[in-house]
Amino acid sequence: MALWRSLLLVVAMIAIATRPLVEASLTAEDFRAEVHRVDPSIFPLQRPLSPFSTETHTMDVSNVVQRFFNAAGLALLNSCCRDWMHSYDGAASSVSAQYEEMIFDACKMLPDEHDLGAALSLLQLRRATAQATTDGEQDPPYFGFIPKFLGRIVAPATAVLEITPCNTTMSVQPLLNATTGVITIRVDAFRATNSSSIICVDNMWFSVGAKTSSLRIEGTGSYVASLAVDMTSESIAWDASTNGVRVYRFAHSDPWVGLVQIVDTLLLFLPQLTGHTDPVSALSNVNFISNYSLMTPYPIPRPFPYVVNVSTTSDIHDGDLFAKMDLDGIGPIEAFAQGTTSGHTAFALRNTTTGELFVCESVAQGIICTLYDVWIQQKQSFGSNIVLVPLDPSLRAVFNNSAAWEHVNKFLGNQYGYFNFFFGWVDTEEKNFPCFPWEWKRCLSSELVEFVMLFLDASVPEVASTFFGQALNHRAQTGVLDMPISDVIYAASKHLAMSFKRLMTVPEDDAWLYNSTKRGVPGRQLLPSEVCSSFACSTLRAAGVFDASIHSNITCTEIDVYDMFSMSIFDTTRMGDGRPTACLAADPHNNLCQLSGGWTFHLVEDMNTRPVTPQMSLHCASRNPVPYDREGC
Ligand SMILES: *[C@@H]1O[C@H](CO)[C@@H](O)[C@H](O)[C@H]1NC(C)=O
Ligand SMILES: *[C@@H]1O[C@H](CO)[C@@H](O)[C@H](O)[C@H]1NC(C)=O
Ligand SMILES: *[C@@H]1O[C@H](CO)[C@@H](O)[C@H](O)[C@H]1NC(C)=O
Ligand SMILES: *[C@@H]1O[C@H](CO)[C@@H](O)[C@H](O)[C@H]1NC(C)=O
Ligand SMILES: *[C@@H]1O[C@H](CO)[C@@H](O)[C@H](O)[C@H]1NC(C)=O
Ligand SMILES: *[C@@H]1O[C@H](CO)[C@@H](O)[C@H](O)[C@H]1NC(C)=O
Ligand SMILES: *[C@@H]1O[C@H](CO)[C@@H](O)[C@H](O)[C@H]1NC(C)=O
Ligand SMILES: *[C@@H]1O[C@H](CO)[C@@H](O)[C@H](O)[C@H]1NC(C)=O
Ligand SMILES: *[C@@H]1O[C@H](CO)[C@@H](O)[C@H](O)[C@H]1NC(C)=O
Repeated sequence: MALWRSLLLVVAMIAIATRPLVEASLTAEDFRAEVHRVDPSIFPLQRPLSPFSTETHTMDVSNVVQRFFNAAGLALLNSCCRDWMHSYDGAASSVSAQYEEMIFDACKMLPDEHDLGAALSLLQLRRATAQATTDGEQDPPYFGFIPKFLGRIVAPATAVLEITPCNTTMSVQPLLNATTGVITIRVDAFRATNSSSIICVDNMWFSVGAKTSSLRIEGTGSYVASLAVDMTSESIAWDASTNGVRVYRFAHSDPWVGLVQIVDTLLLFLPQLTGHTDPVSALSNVNFISNYSLMTPYPIPRPFPYVVNVSTTSDIHDGDLFAKMDLDGIGPIEAFAQGTTSGHTAFALRNTTTGELFVCESVAQGIICTLYDVWIQQKQSFGSNIVLVPLDPSLRAVFNNSAAWEHVNKFLGNQYGYFNFFFGWVDTEEKNFPCFPWEWKRCLSSELVEFVMLFLDASVPEVASTFFGQALNHRAQTGVLDMPISDVIYAASKHLAMSFKRLMTVPEDDAWLYNSTKRGVPGRQLLPSEVCSSFACSTLRAAGVFDASIHSNITCTEIDVYDMFSMSIFDTTRMGDGRPTACLAADPHNNLCQLSGGWTFHLVEDMNTRPVTPQMSLHCASRNPVPYDREGC
């Protein structure tokens, strides 16, 4: 599937956790209170905030996740706006007055506006108007708020940093008071020009565990930041004294620019809130793809409506896959993060007796099978871009339909593979985290990921447990699933001599079970966790498609969307000119048959090129922007 909602949450969380408005640091407690303010019924303050509690799951997970995202997004915007309006003096700014006015108005509206979708739509309209009148090259807008990691400093050492954009030399020294846990970070900054500048500001950000602090360095001088960690916790005390202070810098000088970047990024996700891919959101997403990914050809619009009716009896067979790209924020970002162009995998499976064609997949609603005719109509009306990726006939010949159903029936109703989705994607210490244009030097880093995990564990423990905690417990062999993340990291270091970075790369084991839920069954139970591509892989395996040497020796939970389509198991005779006539007529240029969508959609060039080998894809790099550097794959 789309890891969509789950990835979206992570993105929203990074945005929230590292808000560029560094004047006021948002603590885990503030965040929790802010989210609660927006949606009190779903996030009671007394209990851990829990969009995935047993009670809510049996209602409707996707609805709950959406409300959580709404609340988190709104909490973020509210809190950014509050800080920005507070510091906005109505004059000093390097950007157009219209642009500022636009944000100012939207911010004034936000605190009373509990429908993030409506608020974002308004911003989108205003932004489009404002942008038409803004000129000059700007920072890449999306994810510009992600700070660059500069290094870690263990108290009481001093580090000297040379920081180019403002030509600042900085000596940074943290001091840890082992009794109180207060960490004082002293920064002596020097700029040769020795002129203070509000145009060139070093927005510094520091984190230790889940705690943060920040500084705005405007020129030569001494600055002090401080934060306090809980020294009564063994793992937190260990982290503070061993791993030290992590130092980051935000790209922009102007907090206002940071706000625009957050808004722009959130706008990519508007279809998540409105339920359909409107043309403006689709365009934003195509902008994102064509600026952030080097995997061409980029999507171009098709005449609308685009409908290709293929024969469900002769053109689609058991084990054929579908690749999907929704221009809805999550699709492109998920694909981008994995170093591919597709965001989702589903597969075709016929009812053994009636022969009716079904599409089975792991999605936010859980693991489901839908009649093909119903499925394709839903996708066409949502505007999903879908291509058919046909299985090789020699493999189709061995595809055991009843064995496949046996497997699928075991999984039907299971929760989507939130638990290990992050770990199926991250196979290396740093080489799966994307870098951003235009220099491709600012990248997501494992330090930031560690911070986000710890921040979530401190503010929304059950979310953290679902997305990261349980999988980390498995990796650190703690014997339980619910040890807090900071303790897990400590345990891995102490007992396995494994750093956090290494811990993340421990391959998943298909036999690992997660404390999960199944639709229609009250309470929690231990179940396997499979994302879309893992579920497709495990079903092909169950159907006997992989030969004997692979069958018991492939880890499907490590197979991501790129991995799945890169396997050389597909039928080239049904590609290109061999496609069904309806595709050839409607769509002469694609190598695959596009069944739905308002935009062209191509898989990466190296699809169908990698032989299936034992334990493939356990250590596979995918760092954007090098789409075809698949080191370790
Ligand atoms: C930093 O130094 C470079 C090269 O000496 C210079 O071109 C640039 O203008 C300086 N930047 C600032 C903000 O002083
Ligand atoms: C730590 O803080 C306490 C309380 O403020 C203070 O009394 C003590 O001197 C500090 N220790 C050091 C080493 O600075
Ligand atoms: C640089 O300027 C600041 C005030 O802007 C002043 O306090 C400081 O002494 C100056 N430093 C040098 C080395 O001239
Ligand atoms: C960014 O994307 C837009 C829309 O596709 C395109 O016009 C523009 O040239 C791209 N910019 C860069 C630097 O690639
Ligand atoms: C495709 O099939 C649908 C439903 O069977 C039908 O309504 C539609 O007219 C067909 N379109 C084309 C272009 O064949
Ligand atoms: C196939 O369809 C029949 C009749 O609707 C149903 O009884 C059976 O359970 C289905 N088999 C599978 C594997 O879904
Ligand atoms: C297909 O799978 C079923 C159920 O696992 C099994 O009983 C049957 O023998 C298999 N058929 C073949 C041809 O292997
Ligand atoms: C699973 O989660 C439930 C509810 O959060 C908890 O009561 C139970 O102890 C957990 N089971 C395991 C094995 O962690
Ligand atoms: C599985 O693959 C690994 C890596 O190639 C190999 O070392 C191992 O012997 C294989 N195990 C089985 C049971 O085939």
